[in-house]
Amino acid sequence: MNINVAILGSTGYTGAELIRLIEAHPHFNITHLGAHSQAGKKIGEVLPGIASHIANQTLAPADAALADDIQLVFTALPHGAAAKSVKRALDKGKKVVDLSADFRHQSSQVYQQAYNVAHPHPELLTHAVYGLSEWARADIAKAQLVANPGCYPTSTLLPLIPLLRGKLIDQNPIIIDAKSGTSGAGRSAKTGLLYCEINEGLGAYGLPRHRHAWEMEEWAQGFGMQRIRVRFVPHIIPMTRGMLSTLHLTGSNTDTWHQALSQAYADEPFVRILPLGSLPSTKSVAGSNRCDIGLCVLSDTEVVVVSCIDNLLKGASGQALQNANIMFDLQESLGLSVHAQWP
Ligand SMILES: NC(=O)c1ccc[n+]([C@@H]2O[C@H](COP(=O)([O-])OP(=O)(O)OC[C@H]3O[C@@H](n4cnc5c(N)ncnc54)[C@H](OP(=O)(O)O)[C@@H]3O)[C@@H](O)[C@H]2O)c1
Repeated sequence: MNINVAILGSTGYTGAELIRLIEAHPHFNITHLGAHSQAGKKIGEVLPGIASHIANQTLAPADAALADDIQLVFTALPHGAAAKSVKRALDKGKKVVDLSADFRHQSSQVYQQAYNVAHPHPELLTHAVYGLSEWARADIAKAQLVANPGCYPTSTLLPLIPLLRGKLIDQNPIIIDAKSGTSGAGRSAKTGLLYCEINEGLGAYGLPRHRHAWEMEEWAQGFGMQRIRVRFVPHIIPMTRGMLSTLHLTGSNTDTWHQALSQAYADEPFVRILPLGSLPSTKSVAGSNRCDIGLCVLSDTEVVVVSCIDNLLKGASGQALQNANIMFDLQESLGLSVHAQWP
């Protein structure tokens, strides 16, 4: 099977990671690379790490028409811009995996609260399937549009959902303290991300309410079947890629929590529950599509859960490819590594 693929936003960090993954995929074939300010250049000029024949491919402008033989479109664009490209691709009958936040909420009011802008295509929101692969396989398989989850929500929902389903967590708000490498903020120039400003430093941001808090609450309820409130404090750290989320939880039967998580993910190639008391690190997931989860039971009622992903893989392009494999009824792990790069 040969499936022609377009990557819109191919010059950004998640776009570059999609190129790297899809080039090695046995059935997906990149035929269209889209860009915005870099349109007209060759991708090899903009991404020096791209070395195959594809380096000579010219970047198409964002509004260029997609050829009829393209079946799958990845939109790795800023929110707002993504919705418009998604609409055009859907109208032409393509399947779409959108990496932006534009289709992650079911209601346009929630989107507007979180992103402070009106949704460009609210009529499409109910058309999208929220693509947390491990929990939405059947719907993803039937979807024309998959909204790829955010990186922080992926790292927090994966541990939370089995515990919520088991009615093991009892406190509100759930306290989530998270750290991200700077690639999480994308490739465009920002003063706060200059080397001098970020190196050897650590800072919180996004308070009082980071955009991803709405997404965590909506899908904790969607998949965990319990309404929760999160107190989410993200931090940016001087590291290129990687994300670590620490969840401070209280509840009941804490001696069963490790088993609940182990059972939920026993057959999942991309979610690993570490032995009780072992805690994950960003190094052990870097370059892989894995989420590693560790927990430490502090008492009969208190547990700390730590969850790590590579923000550009399980947090973005890796999960996007996992979802695309599901949409085309391919083996879900095709083109994805369970192994981290080491060291
Ligand atoms: N970075 C992460 O870890 C991560 C994780 C999960 C989800 N996401 C989401 O994925 C999306 C892409 O993120 P990223 O980090 O790859 O961003 P990025 O590095 O900033 O890249 C943005 C891409 O979009 C293009 N672009 C910028 N403005 C545009 C516009 N108005 N219209 C059309 N194209 C435009 C850029 O093209 P030019 O270079 O040609 O200007 C570039 O290819 C975002 O919605 C982000 O929130 C990112």
